[in-house]
Amino acid sequence: MAIVSSNIDQKKSHHSMGHQRAVDALPLPEERLPVSEDGVRPKRLDDYIGQNELKEVLGIAVKASLERGDSLDHVLLYGPPGLGKTTMALVLAKELGVSCRITSAPALERPRDIVGLLVNIKPRDLLFIDEIHRLPRVAEELLYPAMEDKRLDLTVGKGSASRIRSLELPPFTLVGATTRAGSLSSPLRDRFGLTQRLEFYGLEDLTKIVQRTSCLLGLSISTKACLEIARRCRGTPRIANRLLNRVRDFATVRGNTKLIDAPIADAALQLHRVDHRGLDQSDRRLLSFLIENYDGGPVGLETIAAGLGEDSVTLETVIEPFLLQIGFLQRTSRGRVVTAAGIKHFQGQATL
Ligand code: ADE
Repeated sequence: MAIVSSNIDQKKSHHSMGHQRAVDALPLPEERLPVSEDGVRPKRLDDYIGQNELKEVLGIAVKASLERGDSLDHVLLYGPPGLGKTTMALVLAKELGVSCRITSAPALERPRDIVGLLVNIKPRDLLFIDEIHRLPRVAEELLYPAMEDKRLDLTVGKGSASRIRSLELPPFTLVGATTRAGSLSSPLRDRFGLTQRLEFYGLEDLTKIVQRTSCLLGLSISTKACLEIARRCRGTPRIANRLLNRVRDFATVRGNTKLIDAPIADAALQLHRVDHRGLDQSDRRLLSFLIENYDGGPVGLETIAAGLGEDSVTLETVIEPFLLQIGFLQRTSRGRVVTAAGIKHFQGQATL
């Protein structure tokens, strides 16, 4: 599979996105992708651990489309960051035997950005648009007929002399990813034939993911050490792999043996102030703010954002989902409230 990725790195640098446009950048061949996250991504559905319902639904859709020789229906993947939305798009392309073009919605600022991607698309190819809830209006309007009727409506000429010229597109699949499905306009949401939520991973799957990555990195690590990382990665493979890197560094410098065992993993994670439930300093700051200033809440999101100097979208999409999932925080109509379990945990860990 060729990954004709014009800007795979863009999701890591939102601020530069306005300048780095989808169609200007050079294609990035698969072997030149950064080794860190991309080197350990599963390539096939069978290598993809967890998200069983998602795999089953998409596996059936892929097989059916291969059997019919059709393009796969458009897919919307939503859920918290780091759970494998980009990975799944790449896996789908591989399973379909087609290319995947990767871009991020804010990079599609000018009409020519999305036009450039669509006119170069080959039959049955995948177009992956990350952060699709941030799609500029012009791009969204060009996408509607493209998704629905495989038609690109181009405006040629200016003012009263302008006309619409329609271009026929080959069948293709749009894979959209978002952390905020609710922020998509309903006409856009309605054009996806498959809408799937990615869930936080369970301990068993996370342990397998850490073991798999360790194996790919040639590390010798105990199952207990993998489990320790799994417990502390907030249900998120991207974080698990990041923590594994920190544990590997620590073991290289401080470990006495080649084997990474649970005490080494624990010491490394303590050094990075990741507590036993995986909470980091941002989580503890949020809990501390609510508990110490507001007796645990309720407090409105904007008040918390202002008090912590955090952006409210980051709070809502990156920090809160895991605290809600583990039952340390609740969203009520009057604001956020720390639960009794959250208070108990905070009091036990506040010194970290
Ligand atoms: N690495 C990151 N996420 C993964 C997953 N879901 N399965 C296998 N390896 C992974």
